[in-house]
Amino acid sequence: MVLFSKFIVATLFTRAIKAQIMPFDAREATVDSVHHALYSGLSTCREVVSSFLARIEAHNNLTNAIITLNPKALTVADELDEQLATGNATGPLFCVPILLKDNYDTVDMPTTGGNLALAKSQPTEDAPSVVAFKKAGAVILGKANLHELALEGISVSSLGGQTINPYDSTRTPGGSSGGTGAAVASSFCVFGTGTDTVNSLRSPASANSLCSIRPTQGLITRTGIIPISYTHDVIGPIARSIKDVAVALTVMASSGYDPADNSTARVPSTIRNVDYAASLTTGSLKGLRLGVLNGFFNRTASAEVTPVNNAMDTLMARLEAEGVTLIPINETIYNATAIQAALDVQRFEYRELFDQYIERPSLAGEHPSTLNELYSHKATNGSGGEFLVIPSQYEYVNTALISSTSNATYLQRQQGIRNLTLALLNTFASNEVDAIIYPEQKNLVVKIGSPSQSGRNGILAALTGTPVVTVPAGFSEPSDDAPIGVPIGMEILGRPWDDEKLLGIGYKIEQLLKVRKSPKWARDIVEVPAYDSVPTVTPDTSAIPSAYPLGTL
Ligand SMILES: *[C@@H]1O[C@H](CO)[C@@H](O)[C@H](O)[C@H]1NC(C)=O
Ligand SMILES: *[C@@H]1O[C@H](CO)[C@@H](O)[C@H](O)[C@H]1NC(C)=O
Ligand SMILES: *[C@@H]1O[C@H](CO)[C@@H](O)[C@H](O)[C@H]1NC(C)=O
Ligand SMILES: *[C@@H]1O[C@H](CO)[C@@H](O)[C@H](O)[C@H]1NC(C)=O
Ligand SMILES: *[C@@H]1O[C@H](CO)[C@@H](O)[C@H](O)[C@H]1NC(C)=O
Ligand SMILES: *[C@@H]1O[C@H](CO)[C@@H](O)[C@H](O)[C@H]1NC(C)=O
Ligand SMILES: *[C@@H]1O[C@H](CO)[C@@H](O)[C@H](O)[C@H]1NC(C)=O
Ligand SMILES: *[C@@H]1O[C@H](CO)[C@@H](O)[C@H](O)[C@H]1NC(C)=O
Ligand SMILES: *[C@@H]1O[C@H](CO)[C@@H](O)[C@H](O)[C@H]1NC(C)=O
Repeated sequence: MVLFSKFIVATLFTRAIKAQIMPFDAREATVDSVHHALYSGLSTCREVVSSFLARIEAHNNLTNAIITLNPKALTVADELDEQLATGNATGPLFCVPILLKDNYDTVDMPTTGGNLALAKSQPTEDAPSVVAFKKAGAVILGKANLHELALEGISVSSLGGQTINPYDSTRTPGGSSGGTGAAVASSFCVFGTGTDTVNSLRSPASANSLCSIRPTQGLITRTGIIPISYTHDVIGPIARSIKDVAVALTVMASSGYDPADNSTARVPSTIRNVDYAASLTTGSLKGLRLGVLNGFFNRTASAEVTPVNNAMDTLMARLEAEGVTLIPINETIYNATAIQAALDVQRFEYRELFDQYIERPSLAGEHPSTLNELYSHKATNGSGGEFLVIPSQYEYVNTALISSTSNATYLQRQQGIRNLTLALLNTFASNEVDAIIYPEQKNLVVKIGSPSQSGRNGILAALTGTPVVTVPAGFSEPSDDAPIGVPIGMEILGRPWDDEKLLGIGYKIEQLLKVRKSPKWARDIVEVPAYDSVPTVTPDTSAIPSAYPLGTL
């Protein structure tokens, strides 16, 4: 009896000690799990932030996802701890550690687009979305690598090097927001941000078993983001769960109408100040009608394509078993390759928009003053040889240096985009579908060293401004390179302003399938040091693949 009570006392004692010293477990953490730890007194904000910094410090060399850490992250955490101590912890993202794609303007760190010539380009104002995050209590941990200037999907840049897929070190993480995707998948933060000109919020979600939303164009202002295209560009969150995507979207959309981005004037009054997380659990999958875009699949069997088709076929069978009606859509206009070739307008809009961004008087630090100057900027390599910082292998970028929105082809393409948008709405109406589904990428995310991220289907939403929620759909079979398989993602596309409805559908599919798994190495516990200051991380630029030649002179 005596022994028994001693045992209980000893156990309780050990537990009490453990509770005190137990570091916050950052692995797969959510907004809710951070708040639970803080509000139940298990962790301080400094501990929460330190636990993510420790993961980045220990593991960034496995993904090369981070360009810079925010030197103020721990100071901000301490301020939030003071608020917590005085019972004044407010804000939907109170002490939630996040990472920003390095094309979001930040006053605390340079905004580089991953480009050496912009290494010191220093905004003196935060982008409105960054202001909204800070106001909501988020802690900005740092900036993530991206495909240079967000111009392709393989996530390699002259400043940040090649980002590596955490599920398969021989593959890219998708892109262009690939640093964010790899970082979120590795639990380097609770969620991160991306931008999407053609695929870039969806391809990294798909390749890293994550969720994202490409919001209806106009829902979130694009001010303070390094631009490419007025017609294509949107910004949004990437997270490990639909709920966190919804919480993040609510904050990002809260900045509302912005006279500096006239697309925000299109938001209907009925969807201002929506809490996108509030309605996730209402309704069910039963009775939904989902269109299946057959033209966005590649049914030619191969090692890279078949796993995607298998994952989608399994997923669709599960949906039908839940009472979803799938409607095949076989119209030949839905051919992503053909749409992109005929209607993409980046080449006409890029130079004018970029010049407006780079010429702003509020942009401090050393930086080129025009796009053409950026493209002729020379840097010096380790052995003193000079190279152009931007490789010029992208035809559309080379065209952008001379093209403009006054080109007659531009106006013709804009008419083609209006036609496509009406055809898409007609597909929704005539088939009476709630949403349209297809794989984000017809094949597995490409290997490192590939010249482009081929097979992606992002162009339809990119041109029509329609919203898309991306969810994990499955994995390929495990292999030596990919110990738990390569992630595969599905797009759920809706009508303009159906963002809330799509998140509801995505949430129910997520709960039904529970596809997401963390990368194998990211399951390790990382010891959390008592930081005096935020550690520094140096991107690895030593292994830039030769398929991404730094511009030779
Ligand atoms: C990454 O860094 C850790 C700790 O510094 C080291 O043990 C490991 O070998 C490194 N891994 C790679 C792939 O460089
Ligand atoms: C509570 O927090 C808010 C927002 O951070 C701040 O503006 C306010 O001054 C704080 N109030 C107190 C009593 O600390
Ligand atoms: C909207 O903004 C774009 C980019 O600044 C500009 O080119 C366009 O003329 C504006 N449209 C209207 C109707 O003001
Ligand atoms: C379809 O897949 C096959 C086999 O993987 C590949 O050769 C072909 O290029 C793909 N086609 C398209 C349009 O992606
Ligand atoms: C649509 O395409 C699918 C797959 O390619 C095919 O199985 C189906 O028969 C087609 N439906 C119609 C009505 O053509
Ligand atoms: C899609 O468009 C491309 C480019 O125009 C063409 O080569 C291809 O045959 C088309 N695919 C189908 C299935 O029609
Ligand atoms: C540096 O640049 C020179 C001139 O372009 C080139 O010959 C040399 O191979 C480069 N060295 C490295 C280490 O990249
Ligand atoms: C107009 O655009 C077309 C198609 O991209 C391009 O070939 C042409 O050079 C452009 N012309 C001018 C004057 O910008
Ligand atoms: C757009 O549709 C109109 C009316 O159907 C047609 O006359 C025009 O040729 C189409 N334009 C393009 C660029 O597709």
